Amino acid sequence: MRVIILKNYEQVSECVFNHFIASFKKNTRDNFVLGLPTGGTPILFYEKIAKNQVDFSKIITFNMDEYIGISRDNKNSFYSFMNENLYKKVNIKPENINIPNGEAMDLEQECKKYEEKIKLYGGIDLFVGGIGTNGHIAFNEPNSDFSSVTRVVNLTEKTIKDNARFFNSADDVPKTAITVGISTIMGAKELLFMANGKNKAEAIKQTVNGAADKLWPSSFLKNHKNVTLVIDEAAAILL
Ligand code: GLP
Repeated sequence: MRVIILKNYEQVSECVFNHFIASFKKNTRDNFVLGLPTGGTPILFYEKIAKNQVDFSKIITFNMDEYIGISRDNKNSFYSFMNENLYKKVNIKPENINIPNGEAMDLEQECKKYEEKIKLYGGIDLFVGGIGTNGHIAFNEPNSDFSSVTRVVNLTEKTIKDNARFFNSADDVPKTAITVGISTIMGAKELLFMANGKNKAEAIKQTVNGAADKLWPSSFLKNHKNVTLVIDEAAAILL
């Protein structure tokens, strides 16, 4: 695992942006398949993509996850988040945007279809991600299996509490979600993860120094042969 420690959030976002551009330029396939996260961490990265007007005409995106129990129109759905922060600002073709549908009638079927669609496109070229304070990646909470694929999951109290900042109260945060699995993430050709702030320090310590262990899902990332973790000094204080 390549670990890059930078001064602050701005530098982390700039580095992730440059890395994404380099990876995109190296791509020799007709399309570039990009896995994307939500959360507070990638916001500046998305701003940089929009500001630089990166050409998304040949990019196909797959978002990592989506809440169940709120509609797509809800401002806190990941669908709304992605539209507001990225999709409405770039020239991506609507048919190239993939976000799990948390409102699907048959959620099991939705998960299966999502996983199959990723395979149909030949897999993810670059999966960009953030890390939760409890080490979750996408919504793979502690105790998620290494072999897990796209599925419905229960969110932990910790994650609900962490994400309450986007809602009126913790009671409004959905309790379940659809998430790609650990094996879906690990199946990408390249991984690019980022974290900033001292509230991520313990998760970063476990990710970098700990053994690959279910209790800290992000610790599995080190088993990937092409993974870069970009963090700021505050997130690196326990290394
Ligand atoms: C979530 C998302 C993850 C994200 C993580 C960290 O809720 N499902 O994809 O990486 O939490 O979020 P943040 O960047 O807000 O700290």
